[in-house]
Amino acid sequence: MKYSIRIEKSTSSRLSQIDFNNIPFGRTFSDHLFAADYKNGEWTDLRIVPFEPFLIHPGSMVLHYGQSIFEGMKASKNQDGQAMLLRPEMHARRFNLSAARMSMPDVPEALFLQALHAIVSIDSDWIPPQEGSALYLRPLMFANDEFIGVHSSENYRFLIMTGPVGPYYPKPIRLWAERQYVRAVKGGTGEAKAAGNYAGSLLPAKLAAQKGFDQVMWMDAHEFKYIQEAGTMNIFFVIDGKVVTPATDGAILKGITRDSILHILKDKGYTVEERPVSIDEIIAAYYAGTLQEAFGTGTAAIVSHIAEIGSDELLMQLPPIDQRPVGELIKSEINGLRSGRIVDTRGWVVPVDGGRWTVDDGR
Ligand code: COI
Repeated sequence: MKYSIRIEKSTSSRLSQIDFNNIPFGRTFSDHLFAADYKNGEWTDLRIVPFEPFLIHPGSMVLHYGQSIFEGMKASKNQDGQAMLLRPEMHARRFNLSAARMSMPDVPEALFLQALHAIVSIDSDWIPPQEGSALYLRPLMFANDEFIGVHSSENYRFLIMTGPVGPYYPKPIRLWAERQYVRAVKGGTGEAKAAGNYAGSLLPAKLAAQKGFDQVMWMDAHEFKYIQEAGTMNIFFVIDGKVVTPATDGAILKGITRDSILHILKDKGYTVEERPVSIDEIIAAYYAGTLQEAFGTGTAAIVSHIAEIGSDELLMQLPPIDQRPVGELIKSEINGLRSGRIVDTRGWVVPVDGGRWTVDDGR
């Protein structure tokens, strides 16, 4: 099914003000925004409009009860200047899993993908050319009933905003093993990309920053023993040549970059284990000299090396970056797929297709 999208083009592009060699993460927004409103059980008024603030009613339920989900994706260009997406349908599916958990309506996969292709086509000049930089895509859905009572909203807004980005963490990070606060518990909302998960992480992150750490390493909610995630990323360790990552258990976000990394490493012959990983195992490996690498992964960060892990008992200092072949390989593979330097043999790279995904001009 092809949806009809009304397009109102911006009359004055802000692109000339952007220095692609110096783009801080998340502060720059491209010229256009995709929006749609869910009313009476269907998505209506699909539109691409100039990017600008919009009005929201003070009673809008999202402001009160936080019924809001999002995705993080990237568009890049290959050497021929073709705009490309990586595994967009995985993001569409995860968006709807998040929607289901938060009692929100589905965005049909075809609508999600068509909107993505349309907005990226329109703002494709905003895709930074350098490998490692990208156009970050932020699909977002929020509850929009004007009502001060707790129920699932009946009205929602779905948006896709985009903006050029450089690296999320420009240097290796220091993690604090968090044993006071938790991010998620099985049965909670940890598997969803729900706004509230991030809100709840801010105080622990602030307290960790006061101790000199960049982010927290989340632990399980029952024993504070099993490692879950690193800040806003999934986490991997290399122990004695084996790659180990916590198995998703209902409290850990099912990262799409995490999934890509597992495929890439298995294809390259690495031993990869998805299983519970305790802090005790990491400390034992550290003392045995077999803790070789640790890194966080996510769409925004791709791979972010972990320089140190601190806890009440000790500070683990990990090897320097030039001794981290696995993390560096992964970073190069994912950036290479995005830039076309590495040939995609898995059908993950999807060209932004102005033909298949042509949108109605609306004028
Ligand atoms: C991403 O990795 O894209 C994320 O969604 C993390 C984010 C909160 C910046």
